[in-house]
Amino acid sequence: MPVSQQSSKTVLTHPSGSSTEIHLFGATLTSWKVNGRERIFLSEKAIVDGSKAIRGGIPLVFPVFGKGKAPHVTASLPQHGFARITRWKLVNSSENQEIVTAQFGLDHSMISEEHRQMWPFDFELVYTVKLSADTLETHLRVQNIGDKAFDFNTLLHTYFLIPDASKVKVIGLSGVNYVDKVLQKSADQEGDVVIRGEVDSVYAKVKSNQIQIPYGSEQGGIQLTKYGLSDIVVWNPWTEKAAGMADFGDEEYHRMICVEAGQVAEFIALAAGGSWEGSQILSLFAIPQHTII
Ligand code: BG6
Repeated sequence: MPVSQQSSKTVLTHPSGSSTEIHLFGATLTSWKVNGRERIFLSEKAIVDGSKAIRGGIPLVFPVFGKGKAPHVTASLPQHGFARITRWKLVNSSENQEIVTAQFGLDHSMISEEHRQMWPFDFELVYTVKLSADTLETHLRVQNIGDKAFDFNTLLHTYFLIPDASKVKVIGLSGVNYVDKVLQKSADQEGDVVIRGEVDSVYAKVKSNQIQIPYGSEQGGIQLTKYGLSDIVVWNPWTEKAAGMADFGDEEYHRMICVEAGQVAEFIALAAGGSWEGSQILSLFAIPQHTII
């Protein structure tokens, strides 16, 4: 079965052998396997019983990035919003020879009364996951189905499983202005991003649609191609932050990097009746034998 529904998650399997898994809780994608190898990081301590956002995978940030600030209407919402901590529903699935697709939906009637009071807007989200032999596309459509305009942030908060964070690079951000949330300053990125300690940086208005994440000494890496998403967040908690997270192993920061495509530097204003969409396609690339990184 190319698309199978287990109690809490949807599993997509492509004839080539690639696969992906999406929990209905948060529509959080927690696995993408290509050539028998996992590409997405999920913490060994992740809680997947619906009591907390899943630590790893691709949590969906909506309608606020981080904590909202008063007097903005998002100020009382939980960190990164409610989409990642609400149970979605599987609304559609299909397959052809090339692509296996599943669509998930969330609207205002499905969120908790508490969240609804904090953010009183009528909305509909459709999250489409498309799996091919060697790519994974995640696409979000946001619709304002009410009669009041609303502002939102969104982010595909992707945790990549990598062999060694100290060898990885993020290519495609050179020259982009970013806010360094660790040092609390802003600067222009010089060259590629490397991880040598805690990194929590928000790159705004990233012109390049392609971000490459070569693994380092090992062959290959991941390519992220974004559509309709202007910003990129790069995050690695490193030692101290890792030790402070109950749902993240103390040493796991070596094996992950978050490279998150979204709209977070500024809110998007969506008029009544309006819709917005953004997506990313993940693919793999191989580094020629003679290239030394
Ligand atoms: C990143 C933020 O996107 O998510 C970080 O830039 C944050 O500041 C990280 O620490 C993880 O957030 P959370 O809520 O899942 O612990």
